[in-house]
Amino acid sequence: MGNRSFCSIRFAIFLSISLSASSSSPTILPFNSPSPSSIPKATPSDLLSLLGPPTQSSKINPLISKQLSSCLKFLVPFTPSKPKTPKYNSECYIKQRSLRLHSNSVISVERSKSEENELIWWPPEPVLELARLAFDSGGDPASIHRALDPTVLPVPDVEGCKVNRCELTRTPYGRRFINEELNSYLEFLFELIVARGPSVGFNVSLNRYDLFHGHVFIAWETGRLGILFHAREYPAYDKEVFPYNMGYCQKGSTITYDDSMNLRNILLLLPLPSNSTKAWVAPGVLVVLDARPDGIIYRDLIPEYVNIARTIYEDDLGELVVDVNYLNVGDTVPDYKIFIC
Ligand SMILES: *[C@@H]1O[C@H](CO)[C@@H](O)[C@H](O)[C@H]1NC(C)=O
Ligand SMILES: *[C@@H]1O[C@H](CO)[C@@H](O)[C@H](O)[C@H]1NC(C)=O
Repeated sequence: MGNRSFCSIRFAIFLSISLSASSSSPTILPFNSPSPSSIPKATPSDLLSLLGPPTQSSKINPLISKQLSSCLKFLVPFTPSKPKTPKYNSECYIKQRSLRLHSNSVISVERSKSEENELIWWPPEPVLELARLAFDSGGDPASIHRALDPTVLPVPDVEGCKVNRCELTRTPYGRRFINEELNSYLEFLFELIVARGPSVGFNVSLNRYDLFHGHVFIAWETGRLGILFHAREYPAYDKEVFPYNMGYCQKGSTITYDDSMNLRNILLLLPLPSNSTKAWVAPGVLVVLDARPDGIIYRDLIPEYVNIARTIYEDDLGELVVDVNYLNVGDTVPDYKIFIC
């Protein structure tokens, strides 16, 4: 799986922003406060540690820890309401929480809020197995690639991409996990972000300009498996508020560039395996990373050349494994499908 288009997307954004920066008024460029060397700088690893077990989070500089915490908007409470006990591993409990669907729509499955929370804290067994594989392999992406069905599925037209010459995905084809429960889990994640977004003041939609993809990564230092979702991918060009040309995929966008861009990076971390036993040392996490311009995430974790786009990059968090796309391939009736590229 090459990352050619990933590079070109990153480069295209860089290029268009640097070009515009030299010709447009600087008024929309965020202020750059002086950062004396005495102010410690947060790193992506600090962010991941803060969301890790106490053995990791306790090691962070307290000031950084406090400032990072103020920029975290949890979609699922950080601390599970009850600890993971052996009963959660029982066959019966897993069956009860199985994502295998009776109908073909995830939304139609009735689940309580606490059941949804549980699915993030302690996902179904096949998801935990994947997290364990990534960890045990020492962070080797191939450990996840092997769980994919080799069948390639051409990515069909998505909401009028073709007519606009927009290539939405890294490759023109995608794959799926062999285990259907893994695919269902990915669908669940996208749906949950949309359902819970408003609870943190973030209205997000599943379409090709807003939320349609996430980047699966294995965290550099810990081997923890995660997904960095990017919402608000293609804001509409606007002479005043967003004078940036992002290419074919931006055409037709109705996404208004506004403060909600601050919330476009959404992080999922799967539970962290123990390195000595079969146990888990941290539950799963689902959190919106608030990149408001006066916060530490904006200051330290957003590369300067994408300040405007508020993009956190997956390869700053870990090694990229695959992209997951949740695309509306329906014609008149919406029909969402997972494509792993
Ligand atoms: C989100 O959408 C709802 C319903 O359309 C609206 O009432 C609410 O004000 C919106 N929230 C934000 C933060 O835009
Ligand atoms: C296992 O994890 C502990 C605590 O996170 C760490 O101190 C230790 O170095 C790790 N051991 C190995 C072999 O990685």
